[in-house]
Amino acid sequence: MIRFIPTILFLFLSVQLVVASEDWGKTGHRATGEIAEQYLSKKAKRAIDKLLNGASLALVSNYGDDIKSDSAYRKYGPWHYVNFPFDSSYEASEKSEKGDLYVAITTCIAVLKNETSTQDEKIFHLKMLVHFMGDLHQPLHIGLAADKGGNDFQVRWFNEGTNLHTVWDSKMLDSYEMSYTELAANADKLSKFQLKALQKGTVQDWMNESRDLCKAVYATTEIGGKLGYRYMYDYVNIVRKQLQKGGIRLAVLLNDIFG
Ligand code: ADE
Ligand code: ZN
Ligand code: ZN
Repeated sequence: MIRFIPTILFLFLSVQLVVASEDWGKTGHRATGEIAEQYLSKKAKRAIDKLLNGASLALVSNYGDDIKSDSAYRKYGPWHYVNFPFDSSYEASEKSEKGDLYVAITTCIAVLKNETSTQDEKIFHLKMLVHFMGDLHQPLHIGLAADKGGNDFQVRWFNEGTNLHTVWDSKMLDSYEMSYTELAANADKLSKFQLKALQKGTVQDWMNESRDLCKAVYATTEIGGKLGYRYMYDYVNIVRKQLQKGGIRLAVLLNDIFG
């Protein structure tokens, strides 16, 4: 029996690692949902309330990750990210036949706009859209296949071993110690002009913006790097801004769909 302990321990730790990999982390996705609520039109809010039975966008924002533990939803796994080389573009690169984050968002929009979609289809794709607009703004979700969006890029976070993807999904937000409501209430104040600038563009433009950020992250982070206070100082306000952009742009899409 004793000789099996290392194997059992290894399997247990592997399961923990798989379970631990969640996008933005619960707080980030909830903050994006909460911020979107501030920008919904009355008409969109009414239609969404009806579909979600009054549940908030923050509450449903982690549904996309929750269903990962149900094998019936396995095909949605590749919808959470999109990878292509730094010297290429989404348009020019080979697309995964399993779909990707861009396909995910355009599919959700199409199902929600389609009058022949059932109520259940609309509810499912609305919850998924809330989640995916969060993922679109996590720079490492517009990543590189070679290291699985930074999941294989080992770093140290306040002296503990982790990977770059997890630092961006959740470690920075956890260290910031703000709840999702605090993050939403304390998002940067925007002038009318600044708000308009963030609302502008297409899903593809927003994806390219996250790609540029991803490149900047890779240019400033070393494999095995010791990340901590200085990394927080450099990047936590960018994380906060990404959550705000995700929320504002989610509302743009929802106001268009239900407007
Ligand atoms: N798995 C492979 N690539 C990924 C990415 N960019 N983000 C999250 N998970 C991934
Ligand atoms: Zn992630
Ligand atoms: Zn996700």
